Amino acid sequence: MSEQAKLDLAKSPLSRRAVLCGVAVISFGFIPEAAIAAGGVTQTKDKKIRVDLKVNKNLAKVGGVVTIDLSDGSSIALVRTAKAVTGFTALNLSCTHQGITVQQNGNAWLCPAHGSQYALNGKLINGPARSALMKYPVKATSSAVIIG
Ligand code: FES
Repeated sequence: MSEQAKLDLAKSPLSRRAVLCGVAVISFGFIPEAAIAAGGVTQTKDKKIRVDLKVNKNLAKVGGVVTIDLSDGSSIALVRTAKAVTGFTALNLSCTHQGITVQQNGNAWLCPAHGSQYALNGKLINGPARSALMKYPVKATSSAVIIG
């Protein structure tokens, strides 16, 4: 039923000694469907995260999201924010208020702790957080996105 990609991210710029699990959230337009496990998440030689776009077809549409859970408890979301080949944003899903992991709620991220809300692209909508979700560098081609 579910497939998880586990990687040793020791020395990773994203997370030390983290093990990576790929979990995808399918969305159509901006209305996400139930979360499913995803394959196609691997580690590059230089310890970055590679997300295969052929496996994660939901990222073909603007509003599509793939979340990647790391063994240190943090999570990354890769969001298709524009139609362009480079139209991806990678977000650290730790709330910028007190670090609780935010959860997708339709076309937004909602913090279960104190209610901060962020747009799908990470922009702050409502506090108490005072800043947007942190972004990771992203390089995209037509076949894959490299995070980190
Ligand atoms: S930790 Fe997210 S709103 Fe407080």
